[in-house]
Amino acid sequence: MITRVLYIDPSDFKESELVPAADVIKSGGLVIFPTETVYGIGADATRPECAAKIYSAKGRPSDNPLIVHLADPSDAEQYAYTSPLFYRLAGAFMPGPLTVIMPKKDSIPTTVTGGLDSVAVRVPSHPVANALIRLSGLPIAAPSANISGRPSATNAGYALRDFNGRADVIVDGGESDCGLESTIVRITGRDSLLLLRPGAVTPDEIMKKAGCVLEISDAVTGKLAEGERPLSPGMKYRHYSPSKPLTLVSGSREARIRFFRKAQETENAAVICYDEQLPHLRRENAIPAGGETDLETQAHRLFYALRAADSLPCGSIYANLPPASGLGLALYNRLIRAAAYRIEDADSAPDKNTRK
Ligand code: TXA
Ligand code: MG
Repeated sequence: MITRVLYIDPSDFKESELVPAADVIKSGGLVIFPTETVYGIGADATRPECAAKIYSAKGRPSDNPLIVHLADPSDAEQYAYTSPLFYRLAGAFMPGPLTVIMPKKDSIPTTVTGGLDSVAVRVPSHPVANALIRLSGLPIAAPSANISGRPSATNAGYALRDFNGRADVIVDGGESDCGLESTIVRITGRDSLLLLRPGAVTPDEIMKKAGCVLEISDAVTGKLAEGERPLSPGMKYRHYSPSKPLTLVSGSREARIRFFRKAQETENAAVICYDEQLPHLRRENAIPAGGETDLETQAHRLFYALRAADSLPCGSIYANLPPASGLGLALYNRLIRAAAYRIEDADSAPDKNTRK
């Protein structure tokens, strides 16, 4: 299969430019497209054989459900049993980076939902994604456009590296804005939600704007116990991982800088650092990921930084442990998985120069 590339300028395009991509969706093919979070690899969400193509292209276990992308929140009526809370969430955050899980209707095959009787719906705000869904006239099932377990793709180049020859079309609409996947909540009651995956829409914003209580699933910050059944199947799989071992570093500012510099000197490690740390580190093996308090830039650059660190001639990667609050919670959630839960405290770490 040859993957056709369509270049679309999100700030200035005519819908007719997307017709070839919409035709591929209608005819049951795979289209990679930009969203405001990350790139997705999508297909018709109403046909089981289309979902099967997605699982196979990603190498994704078939019990890990796909998000159904819609052009308008009211379209959810056709695919899910909605509630007033859904419409409060939609009013506050849709279109945008929020995914809501509700009981599913029969119009969505269980192949799409990994066998579950619930469905995840999201209305992307990216103009290209929105136009593609509207033109195709179908709900589009789409996971992030990365081979299962690897960092998500925040531009068409990264997506193409994983899927060249495995998707019919890739729509290149430039860099994704947020850089992290959507926030996922499950509706658990009339006024209650469970946070399954943190993202750009933060827990505080949700509670304030939708007037509800939101419980944070233990799996967001922790590791599932052996044999524990995750509420969101994606949580049990290794995720976002570079091919080299990543370790997160906590501790005081000074200790972390000392720790990183030693790791560079003794292990030839790559360091994903804050901009402020850069002058203290070996430049060639350091990837600046935004200012220490600029969490938006850190989110935007996270998957780029993981991929960039991975491509350096080094044997290991270190990064700062982010604060687990606000947008930091989303960074923390992605990074602890990428690091397979390895955290070192720089204040109590042995001096790396004295290690045998
Ligand atoms: O920003 C995003 O959400 C991106 C863009 C492309 O929209 N998509 C994305 O999809 O991140 P994916 O498949 O990489 O992550 C979806 C997560 C998975 O962890 C999956 O297990 C969970 O959502 N999920 C989907 N449907 C679910 C359901 N019915 N119940 C529980 N978890 C569900
Ligand atoms: Mg993903």
